[in-house]
Amino acid sequence: MSDFWKNKQVWITGASSGIGEALVKQLAQKGANTILSSRNGEKLIALKNTLPNANQHSIIELDVSDERSINEALARNKDLVDRVDVLINNAGISQRALTWEASRESERQIMETNFFGATALTKAVLLSMMKRNAGSIISLSSPAGAFGFPLRSSYSASKHALHGYFDSLRAELDAAGINIHVMLVLPGRVRTNMSFNALKQDGSKHANNDHRLASGLSPEQCAKGIIKAAEKRKAEIYFGREQILIYIKRYLPSLFRSIVTKFKPD
Ligand SMILES: NC(=O)c1ccc[n+]([C@@H]2O[C@H](COP(=O)([O-])OP(=O)(O)OC[C@H]3O[C@@H](n4cnc5c(N)ncnc54)[C@H](OP(=O)(O)O)[C@@H]3O)[C@@H](O)[C@H]2O)c1
Repeated sequence: MSDFWKNKQVWITGASSGIGEALVKQLAQKGANTILSSRNGEKLIALKNTLPNANQHSIIELDVSDERSINEALARNKDLVDRVDVLINNAGISQRALTWEASRESERQIMETNFFGATALTKAVLLSMMKRNAGSIISLSSPAGAFGFPLRSSYSASKHALHGYFDSLRAELDAAGINIHVMLVLPGRVRTNMSFNALKQDGSKHANNDHRLASGLSPEQCAKGIIKAAEKRKAEIYFGREQILIYIKRYLPSLFRSIVTKFKPD
């Protein structure tokens, strides 16, 4: 086993469930010191207690959609945050609402969580990474970050925004000769609680596990792919069957539009 992750401080948001939880378990097995974040402190403590060398792992409970919660968490954990080697912006919420029915509040909640949360934490770790001329910032996008489709307008917008932001940041760092790795991850369907937690038009939970998600990758497969790609310092990675649509949109845009118009999401 390579010692790539050994003693690295890896901060994973959305660690209480799904892909984030699988990342925490695998990275801890590889010798990383993980920092677990989400809004649910009890779940994070329970997960931390199952990890090898539990006392080498830490918890930062925070709500990434709330600037005040982020700032309080950063102030409480400054020393820990300054030592982060890898940030994985994984916390996110999806959507199940037609654009003309979605409340502004539900749209803002999605943007605050998926975009502003990720960028706030990135700015919190960036300067110390720049001083050390080392680090990695990984963000979970989605195929919805490469194309829009029904019932996902704000979700898709939030993931597109991550691409604009992190592609720009990568270019700035490269131009300045700074050795920080920036990666975007576009997994197709992964069998998690994402559809259950997705927001309906009024901002309440969809509270339904979409049947299509059941045919997706396991969170463990997805986490394994992310870890491997991080070791190789990839800029962008795709997983799953849905990636074919990214290429169809790029090379056959009118075919893409006819497919997506007929697309019947759960
Ligand atoms: N599953 C898929 O098919 C799929 C496909 C493409 C991309 N993704 C992306 O993968 C990432 C992980 O999703 P998942 O599938 O693992 O979903 P999940 O099982 O619903 O997990 C979402 C995680 O995000 C956390 N979270 C949500 N809102 C938060 C907030 N305001 N503050 C802090 N933490 C928050 C949740 O923790 P608490 O509720 O405990 O706060 C939970 O740990 C997301 O960015 C998602 O967009 C998923």
